[in-house]
Amino acid sequence: MRTELSFANLSQIKTELLAVLAADAQTGKGPEAKPEPMLLTADHAIQAAAATVLGSEEYKAGANEALLLHAPASLAAKRLLIVGLGKLAKVTAHGVRHAAGTAVRFTKPRGIRELVFALPQAAADSAQLPVERCARTAMEGAYVGDFDPDIYRSDRKDQSVQSFTLAAPPKADRKALEAAFAEGVIVGESQNFTRSLVNEPGNKLTPTILGQRAAKMAAEVGLKAEVYSTEKLHELKMGAFWSVSQGSEEPPALIVLRYEPEGLKGGPVLGLVGKGITFDTGGISIKPADKMEQMKYDMAGGAAMLGAMRAIALLKPKVRVIGIVCAAENMPDGKAQKPGDVQTAMSGKTIEIINTDAEGRLVLADGLAYARQLGATHLIDAATLTGACKVALGMVNAGAFSNDDETYGKFESALEVSGEKFWRLPLGEEYAEMIKSDIGDIKNTGGRWGGAITAAEFLKVFAEDTPWIHLDIAGMAWVEDSRPYIAKGPSGIAVRSILEWVRSY
Ligand code: BES
Ligand code: MN
Ligand code: ZN
Repeated sequence: MRTELSFANLSQIKTELLAVLAADAQTGKGPEAKPEPMLLTADHAIQAAAATVLGSEEYKAGANEALLLHAPASLAAKRLLIVGLGKLAKVTAHGVRHAAGTAVRFTKPRGIRELVFALPQAAADSAQLPVERCARTAMEGAYVGDFDPDIYRSDRKDQSVQSFTLAAPPKADRKALEAAFAEGVIVGESQNFTRSLVNEPGNKLTPTILGQRAAKMAAEVGLKAEVYSTEKLHELKMGAFWSVSQGSEEPPALIVLRYEPEGLKGGPVLGLVGKGITFDTGGISIKPADKMEQMKYDMAGGAAMLGAMRAIALLKPKVRVIGIVCAAENMPDGKAQKPGDVQTAMSGKTIEIINTDAEGRLVLADGLAYARQLGATHLIDAATLTGACKVALGMVNAGAFSNDDETYGKFESALEVSGEKFWRLPLGEEYAEMIKSDIGDIKNTGGRWGGAITAAEFLKVFAEDTPWIHLDIAGMAWVEDSRPYIAKGPSGIAVRSILEWVRSY
């Protein structure tokens, strides 16, 4: 998708499709309160072209409600697409992100190759829709909307939008808008980079191949990359990480990316650690066949770290960052670890394996310890860690945990920019009790109840006294039903939030 920013007069832009935003100005409630759709543009020609349909009660400007008009009078555009943001009083820059995605996904299957998306105006003077924020979110939404997962279909018709133009309102601050536009492109592309990795099946994306893809990306954006395997795991005494990998013919990959801004000495070092299980069969504690194919996305946390590192390299915040992905395949085999085995983690702690399907916390235990050894002063991990988190929060919020309120506070502020939904869940001594082992230091499962929390307590042991955030994205990494603004498939969750958290240092 080619993208550009235009400052031309909207009604004079020659294009296949011009998309403008609308919102419902009705503030009353109850059956009497009819929708009052209004366009968020001051352009009189566009308003005139849409007047009849907006007065018809057929279109309510609900969130992501789209309406297409052909040959709009007095416009140079061939088609006018109106995309709703919902209630005017509640519109946000995040809504604009979805609307841009909706516009792109509306355009794609119709074989229309170009569109111009007009940033909101009129309501834009209200502090609700700051134009630069909207420029960034619109670009993010456009890229996210453009992604489809069907890359292995032999009858795949390339329907991608070839040209997406963001149209600025008159009198916009050119420089600020150009910067926001460029930022949105970087973030959108990085989120899609993550999604393209998560989309790959286990046979096409082994730990080794994930390592190669990470190294290639790192070279493209100027990050230092090291990709290690079995030998290094043994050298570092990563007994927890290796215990997952030992049952697979595919060697593990320990991926380490470093972002070191020039001339910056001292200050915090942020350690980003991702779970990269390229396929999770459960191991000897094997999973049921139903839906097991979904476990190709068990590397979504690792892929999120890679996407975030890509965006960090391009946006250049003034803070050092280390990205670590612990990639392995969790397989049953003659060499696989068994329930009851005791493993010694890199930190020296011993782990009794109760269930080989609780493998994510094992690879992360050593990933967190390694990040600390490399000098991380603050840690964040992301993982499709527990089905329990999906049960607790559904496919609406991802789970978040932290051992430090100040560090988490920064993450919460990051969420306001990213528009992603995370819900903080508790930790506590009573939960820590649940993973004490009779034979060793801790066990790798804490029983049925509070499964997302006991998993987090397990990781907390390896974060030790370093401020740390854990993101359980099991319920959010895969979109199970397509939405107007995003395809069914990998979501790319956590990339934007991790990026903003990093930028807050
Ligand atoms: N990868 C799974 C968790 C998962 C479940 C991710 C559903 C995405 C969707 C993880 O490795 C796992 O198997 N967890 C177990 C832990 C249990 C054995 C304590 C689970 O959640 O059942
Ligand atoms: Mn598992
Ligand atoms: Zn897993």
